[in-house]
Amino acid sequence: MQSDPLTPYGNKPMVTPIVSAVNYEYVSFEILKKITNGEIDGYTYHRDDNPTIRTQEKRLALLEEADDCVISTTGMAALTMVFFTYLKKGDHLLTFHDIYGANYKVSLILEKFGVEITWLNADDYDKTENYVKQNTKMIFCETPTNPLIKTIDIELLKKAANKSGAMLVVDNTFATPYHQKPLKLGADLVIHSATKALGGHNDLMAGAIICKTHQQYDELWFTRQAIGTTLDAFSGSLLERGLKTFNLRSKKMSDNAMLSAEFLMSHSKIKKIFYPGLKSDKGHEVAKRQMEDGFGGMLAFDVGDNQADAQKFVENLKIIKHAVSLGCTESLVCLPVLTTMLYMPIERRLSFGVKENTVRMSCGIEDGRLLVEDMKQSLDKL
Ligand SMILES: Cc1ncc(COP(=O)(O)O)c(C=O)c1O
Repeated sequence: MQSDPLTPYGNKPMVTPIVSAVNYEYVSFEILKKITNGEIDGYTYHRDDNPTIRTQEKRLALLEEADDCVISTTGMAALTMVFFTYLKKGDHLLTFHDIYGANYKVSLILEKFGVEITWLNADDYDKTENYVKQNTKMIFCETPTNPLIKTIDIELLKKAANKSGAMLVVDNTFATPYHQKPLKLGADLVIHSATKALGGHNDLMAGAIICKTHQQYDELWFTRQAIGTTLDAFSGSLLERGLKTFNLRSKKMSDNAMLSAEFLMSHSKIKKIFYPGLKSDKGHEVAKRQMEDGFGGMLAFDVGDNQADAQKFVENLKIIKHAVSLGCTESLVCLPVLTTMLYMPIERRLSFGVKENTVRMSCGIEDGRLLVEDMKQSLDKL
């Protein structure tokens, strides 16, 4: 059956239309049955699926060279959907302290439901195999990690996962598919906070689960449809707009991060710096192998001797903004102790290197020389 053209003579809009409809009028019982049997991508109800969003799912799958993708309301919704879909009571999840802080909160819910969790130090990822048990069903990591930009060898983690047939899930938000494609390195699922570099303009929240197989798509679609974490069409349209410049922005953010890291290395007020692009970085060799065309736009560094020094540095910046989130057009800095790691017990946070004077920086697409000048004038005031 031919659907009505959107325009009188069938010219196609350059941008995917924003379909804000909650429900759709059925053209026939025959089509309805095909939709509900999963034979065609028809549409009935927004919580199930939406054509504006579906177009973006195909785009993201293409970017990650994957089979398909399930988009959700936020990155945390995507992560929670994956945990809820693939973990149950008595299962063991292996993960790392150095991951986005809200995962710590989700871990408390998972434990309430009887999931057993082991937290490892990202610096010791090469020992992961020693912690794999018969009931280990999932290994979850970020690489580079949030907030300390540590690199984890995805292929090595896959070997550890194979010991118990566990699923390897990688949050690729920091690297982005421009620099890294975890599915090609052995990951079974890839997560994105599309709120970050995929959207890129601080104006939308979304999450994405990149699927290796059609079966995973069906399983995760089922979870989304059940719990209602379907993204609205307007945000889907903003995501499409962001994706048009994604490659250009990713390259520029990464170039700016490299320039910033090299400058910070040379400054006496910077006590420690984490950026996989630096030869001195612990993860450099692995990052060189598993990342392409740069090392991403995220870096972290310890400023001066205490939190007051870090705060002064942030307060004196003129161009770089003090805000959470990342991967957007503007360069941002924040203190993880006051933001993403706020709810984590202090001893635990210190055990893997997040100090009270640690600053996380997300490079934007400004002229990199201006960013360096801005950091210099602020550091020189300390
Ligand atoms: C690496 C990483 N994963 C997931 C998330 C959660 O994404 P959202 O804020 O879209 O829920 C964040 C948020 O900062 C993040 O940094």
